[in-house]
Amino acid sequence: MSSGGPATFDPLAVTRPTPDTPLARILAERIRTDGPLSFRDWMDACLYHPDLGYYRRGQPTVGREGDFLTSPEVHPLFGAALGHVAVALWHSMNRPSPMRVTEVGPGTGALAESMLNQIGANEPDLLSAIELTLVEPDEQAADAQHRRLAHFRGISHAPSISRLQPGQQFVFANELLDAVPVHLLQVVDGDWRECDVDHSPGRGFRLRPGAVADEPLRETLSDVQPSDGLVAEVSPERGEIICALGRAVAEPGLLLLFDYGYRRERLYAPWRRQGTLMTFRKHVPGDDPLAYPGEQDITCHIDIDQVEEHALASGLTPLAELSQSEWLHQLGAALFPAVADADGSTAAYLAARRAAETLTDPAGLGRVAVLGYTRGEIPTLPGWTSR
Ligand SMILES: C[S@@+](CC[C@H](N)C(=O)[O-])C[C@H]1O[C@@H](n2cnc3c(N)ncnc32)[C@H](O)[C@@H]1O
Repeated sequence: MSSGGPATFDPLAVTRPTPDTPLARILAERIRTDGPLSFRDWMDACLYHPDLGYYRRGQPTVGREGDFLTSPEVHPLFGAALGHVAVALWHSMNRPSPMRVTEVGPGTGALAESMLNQIGANEPDLLSAIELTLVEPDEQAADAQHRRLAHFRGISHAPSISRLQPGQQFVFANELLDAVPVHLLQVVDGDWRECDVDHSPGRGFRLRPGAVADEPLRETLSDVQPSDGLVAEVSPERGEIICALGRAVAEPGLLLLFDYGYRRERLYAPWRRQGTLMTFRKHVPGDDPLAYPGEQDITCHIDIDQVEEHALASGLTPLAELSQSEWLHQLGAALFPAVADADGSTAAYLAARRAAETLTDPAGLGRVAVLGYTRGEIPTLPGWTSR
């Protein structure tokens, strides 16, 4: 998402009526028969209901036609940067063939396309060696990715991370973890409570604090001073995803993640009272995750310590943590002229310059965290040095 910081959000103060979407009717009925939903299950349904979830209903989500911009949708420059890293990685591994590469949550396929184009232009032998697996649970999206990437050989799909073959030498994902459902907690009367989503025909959907269902959720927040009103989001599922990806990474191998997030100390800082949950609809950020069920994005910053702990537990070693702005600035000198001058026109050059500014904007995409984890001996990679 390219917008600035999180909106303010007080879960218990959300009282606006929820627009009646087809998914809203299904969820209201589910609550009527089964009782309130945990916020985690609400977010999961809003994003991933098999037919009506935001990422499952066959409508544009990322990109100018959708609701928010991600880095690959801004310009091929971002994918070219990734291609540059892939080439260096391949050389450092003594040019294996096949070179097993995986993207998780590939969206429109824009990132894979620009990465492969960059590799093809600079290292055709690597392009011939790459076997690229796209982890995409949504069949329609997988078909569209296949069509977009049809002119590349060696592309396959896996329907879930659990079906990923081990031995992947390079695994990457852009804005995957911030789209994983979270539990929503708030301090009420000095103690953590977990927010459920309830529904009544008169008042529509509303959040209500209940008991914390799972003790590990509370343990995650054991270092946080519980001052009344404080909101925190917790997602054990993200840890499971990192462990599964970690298991798939070969030795030597690299896991590279781009996501909005903070170290735990900053994420749960006492001054960040409203948490980081945000919504996006038609490029407008919002603060009501109960609005437009299935028809808006819901996203939440990641806990970088959680990612690192699970990566370490999977036997991976962290690279230096960088912001996207730092990472692209390090890579930029090597990349920018080739990408910007690709078609030789002034308009293309100016578009690339504007894109470089957007991708490195410290108040927007530039503050995305670049989290790299390696297994085995990998020499320093471009992006983490100025070469
Ligand atoms: C914010 S979008 C980013 C899409 C794309 N990577 C981009 O940068 O434009 C998040 C994507 O992650 C996908 N996603 C979430 N959880 C996933 C999982 N467990 N496996 C595969 N994809 C997942 C969603 O379906 C969605 O397409």
